[in-house]
Amino acid sequence: MSRQASKFQEKFMSYIYRGKEIFKPLNTGRIDEHVSCIREFIANIFFYTKNGVTIMIDAGYNYERLKEKMGWLDIDPKDIKHILITHQDTDHVGAIETDSDLLFKDAKVYIGEIENKYLTGEKRRKVCYGLYKLPMVKTDNERVLLKDGEVFHIGDIKIEAILVPGHTWGHIDYLIDDTYLFTGDTIWFGADGGYSFINMLAESNDVAIKSLENLEKQLRKRNLTPKIITGHTGWTDSLDFAFAHRDKVCNSWHKQKPHDPVAEYDGYDESADTEEKARSVMLEKKVISFQ
Ligand SMILES: [Fe+2]
Repeated sequence: MSRQASKFQEKFMSYIYRGKEIFKPLNTGRIDEHVSCIREFIANIFFYTKNGVTIMIDAGYNYERLKEKMGWLDIDPKDIKHILITHQDTDHVGAIETDSDLLFKDAKVYIGEIENKYLTGEKRRKVCYGLYKLPMVKTDNERVLLKDGEVFHIGDIKIEAILVPGHTWGHIDYLIDDTYLFTGDTIWFGADGGYSFINMLAESNDVAIKSLENLEKQLRKRNLTPKIITGHTGWTDSLDFAFAHRDKVCNSWHKQKPHDPVAEYDGYDESADTEEKARSVMLEKKVISFQ
């Protein structure tokens, strides 16, 4: 199921989004000494490492080159014992689905208790304004279900689960060590800052906008300025950039304005993702880039 869904996305989304400046994945490499990432077409998987423990954030597509690219980062799949899932879409859970290569079959998977209802069949994932039902995801990994605001530790790593519904009903953002915020598909970065994520993929764009407002308020009230890391459009260390247009939604039907000189023409072309660069070039943050 998932392998097919991944293949379908590769063909279909490559065709409809080509030249629209929608996806801006990071290439495989490092953001800093704690965070690294892998590119799978248009999506990113992240790794957070502290005191010898590495956890994974999201599980990407059902993607044949994952083990190879983990090798570029010197991470052995066997060492991944914990995977935080932001939401259960095909491009975020592929490597834990039952028909994947099962690189992480012994890892514990963390997911929101509401998001888990898609996995049990209590909810169905719908896109295109409720018109299209996505296939159900199957995984046999042990699951830990998270509530909004829940704080837990893996080794010395502190993790806070923040419910940010809209893209999916149970989407969780993960605040790690109060320093990194992994936002999955809640924020979309344009050349002029962040917007609510892509319109046609949301369960509710209105709920998504409300959630972003709450998220920004919460961070500012607590005086937190984490690195904000997205699933498809890179990262920033500026709250002002990340939430610049949080009351607007990325409209994926049109070519994006302003023009983004660093956006991919076709995000499914991975020729820019190489081992040499992964080992030698740090991944740049997003800043206003259209002047
Ligand atoms: Fe996604």
